[in-house]
Amino acid sequence: MLRITKIRAVKGELRVPSDKSISHRAVILSSLADGESLIRNWLVSEDTLATLETFKRLGVEVERNGDLLKIKGRNYHFQEPADILDARNSGTTARLTLGVLSTQPFFSVITGDESLRNRPMLRVVEPLRQMGAFIDGREKGNKLPISVRGGGLKGISFFNKKASAQVKSALLLAGLKAEGYTEVVEPVLSRDHTERMLKAFSAEVLEFEGEQGRVIKLKGGQKLYGTEVFCPADPSSSAFFVALALLLEGSELILKDVLINPTRDGFYRKLRQMGADIRYENLRDISGEPVADIHVRYSGRLKAVEVKPEEVPSMIDEIPVLAVLMATAEGTSKVRGAQELRVKESDRIRAVAENLRAMGVRVEEYEDGFDIEGVERLKGAFIKTYGDHRIAMAFSVAGFSAEGETIIDKPECVGISYPEFYEHVERVKIL
Ligand code: S3P
Repeated sequence: MLRITKIRAVKGELRVPSDKSISHRAVILSSLADGESLIRNWLVSEDTLATLETFKRLGVEVERNGDLLKIKGRNYHFQEPADILDARNSGTTARLTLGVLSTQPFFSVITGDESLRNRPMLRVVEPLRQMGAFIDGREKGNKLPISVRGGGLKGISFFNKKASAQVKSALLLAGLKAEGYTEVVEPVLSRDHTERMLKAFSAEVLEFEGEQGRVIKLKGGQKLYGTEVFCPADPSSSAFFVALALLLEGSELILKDVLINPTRDGFYRKLRQMGADIRYENLRDISGEPVADIHVRYSGRLKAVEVKPEEVPSMIDEIPVLAVLMATAEGTSKVRGAQELRVKESDRIRAVAENLRAMGVRVEEYEDGFDIEGVERLKGAFIKTYGDHRIAMAFSVAGFSAEGETIIDKPECVGISYPEFYEHVERVKIL
């Protein structure tokens, strides 16, 4: 348990840890490639270590020196694992690895922690079965542990209605070893790091507008070639510090090297609509991804805002911390079309509603979102994180701006994506 009280303001510069999605993909694509890859500024966290451990168990040789990884790729020829693979808390590890295992003729089983064992896997299992993989698991293959015997795949066309980047990525990785073309059609874009990184590993990925949305298409049988990848700072992690600066009068922060990919920066765009002073400075490209330093200044009380279903994918992981900002904005804010939040590391709609209510906020909960009536000041409360890193950090931010004491029940879960979170708060806080 951690006790939190109000801090006066935050000031200075910070480089938050590297992007989780990109760090997972860097390990996976390096493992699939022919030759050696170097990964710089890799995110060292519980989730990304779960991916690294999983690929080591498939025979991948890795040299790690802090955040520098040297990986010897196996060109899609992995070893049958001697034991069960463990994705721990990480949905990205489980779903992307299922795509890779589907290309391998051997037997493997993957599981995860209690939270992950309760999350739906059929969204990726069904299309992989359609491609030809033999997959079984609890609840007819919807829940981990899941077993796979793969190989002999055929390309398919998949309509990505849920805008899931994990499903898209799993199918593209399987498609690289399938006969013919594999394509994913997206009515609303999901994060496109896999496509960008595949190109950096020399794959040809076709992208164009189709009748039902954007088409991402690749031909099976292509080889990936090892390369060097730089991982930028994670916009989902810098979101907590941007929120702190906007909640605490007199604050000003510069967050260095942050990924501002348009499929990921919806949170920052929404905050500007609420009246926040957020600027992207020093724009540049790092390993095929757009990056900037984010300059944020306290901007007075923010205005209420609505989030529409088609805006959700570009800010999906930031919605808990956005909800905290909505809770102190002037007026009633609304989020709709965010039903996917119910199947994240926790039921984030419930966790947000329950914890905001504990802090004195009126929240109306819907199956796919919530309405939040902004208050002048949050009240300290006992916060139930459900072991969910983003709930823990979003409500720590709330606690640092609230009147009275806030208690976070499991602060250690921040290690899933941001082990240095509380140290970084100490570094920028002004008493
Ligand atoms: C991720 C995709 C998103 C996101 C998750 C990371 C990824 O999940 O919420 O934190 O790295 O591909 P979905 O694919 O379920 O939308």
